[in-house]
Amino acid sequence: MSCLACVVGLGYVGLPLAVALAEAEVEVVGYDVNPERIAGLRAGCSGIEDVPDAAVSTPGLSFTSDSGDLATCQAYVLCVPTPLREGMPDLAAVESASRTVASVLRAGDLVVLESTTYPGTTEEVVWPLLDAGSGLVAGRDYLLAYSPERIDPGNPTYGIRNTPKVVGGIDGPSTKAAVDFYAQVCDTVVQVDGTREAEMAKLLENTFRHVNIALVNEMAVFCRELDIDLWQVIEAARTKPFGFMPFYPGPGVGGHCIPVDPSYLSWRVRKMGFTFRFVELAQEINAQMPSYVVTRLTDLLNDAGLALSRSKVLCLGAAYKPGVADCRESPAIEVMKRLRRKGAEVSYADPYVPELVLEGERLSAEPLTQQVLAAADAVVVLTPHAGFDLELVRAHAAFVLDTRAAVLAGDRVFRL
Ligand SMILES: NC(=O)c1ccc[n+]([C@@H]2O[C@H](COP(=O)([O-])OP(=O)(O)OC[C@H]3O[C@@H](n4cnc5c(N)ncnc54)[C@H](O)[C@@H]3O)[C@@H](O)[C@H]2O)c1
Repeated sequence: MSCLACVVGLGYVGLPLAVALAEAEVEVVGYDVNPERIAGLRAGCSGIEDVPDAAVSTPGLSFTSDSGDLATCQAYVLCVPTPLREGMPDLAAVESASRTVASVLRAGDLVVLESTTYPGTTEEVVWPLLDAGSGLVAGRDYLLAYSPERIDPGNPTYGIRNTPKVVGGIDGPSTKAAVDFYAQVCDTVVQVDGTREAEMAKLLENTFRHVNIALVNEMAVFCRELDIDLWQVIEAARTKPFGFMPFYPGPGVGGHCIPVDPSYLSWRVRKMGFTFRFVELAQEINAQMPSYVVTRLTDLLNDAGLALSRSKVLCLGAAYKPGVADCRESPAIEVMKRLRRKGAEVSYADPYVPELVLEGERLSAEPLTQQVLAAADAVVVLTPHAGFDLELVRAHAAFVLDTRAAVLAGDRVFRL
């Protein structure tokens, strides 16, 4: 199936898909409401770490913020943000993107929602907007499906091609059309019966991760009191060849997915009178981790005869995970804010994040040098980017609180 495709929303999810389609010789129009984003892409700047600048010039790929340019497209993939607003799903971008697509939709076209959302969104939110705006009827005049995005930014092993893609349509022809569409860029397409199953599959994956991270984070807190090295425990447990999958403790959870997606499901089930207790407990535990990191650091400084309020603290890593610049919901940022509120003088190093604004104050990243390390009373490892010279850290930091077990053990290295 080759057609003129349109990817709506050109961020972490949409741009890699648009590039992959163009590389598979599908003609693609990338559409984004942000004109600055389009100007940057047209100037050859990807803005996403996993997408090299050269890739945005792949033949067959064009960019626009004018919905009039979409009129001849035949397949639309919606990759727009789905944040939480005061704990509630904010589907404003999905609704607005659906209206845009409805304004250009023609009989025979395929529409796929990829944004992560609660089960029922494709049928209850997107479908009515598409029908109303186009005067067409899904299932009769056009095809409609959901396919969760599983992209893992910064993952060098798994990308669009070799990560199986789950697809579910509102009916058989919609599912088939979506399967054929993704088969152009994915080696394995996994078909489920409907859009709700596909929506739920994504939420199960991320809730599973969220809950398991909370499990090890809670264990980290009492393993410390028991004087047990949890990382060693995990390495031992993972030697079991079946029935166990390792998860690691840290300063909390971040990014656009893990802290957000389970709340979509929790919100949806609450509307039916249920409480999703696992998610709520996991949220509570993971949300407490930044504060636990600050408590641990305060105690360690105290042992060294120092007060946090008069200490210089260098934080390593601001992004929510290694290898990316994305600071959305980053627990590292939360730790830095809390340290500042306690009066600490906070600086940070992050090769991916040259600047950040913390509660109105602009900070610039420090280079990770011997002098910078030596000038700090304490170093906290929050996001261990591969580029960090952790041996240098170990050698020159007064002491290190390592929330990720990234630094080799030493007299002045303390794990979370
Ligand atoms: N980032 C990830 O790792 C990841 C992984 C899997 C799933 N997801 C999900 O994919 C979706 C998109 O996430 P993202 O990280 O790519 O977001 P993003 O913020 O990086 O990019 C979204 C883009 O959509 C554009 N946009 C917003 N409203 C629009 C509209 N009405 N029409 C056209 N463009 C619009 C924005 O300008 C932005 O460029 C979310 O639902 C997210 O939960 C993200």
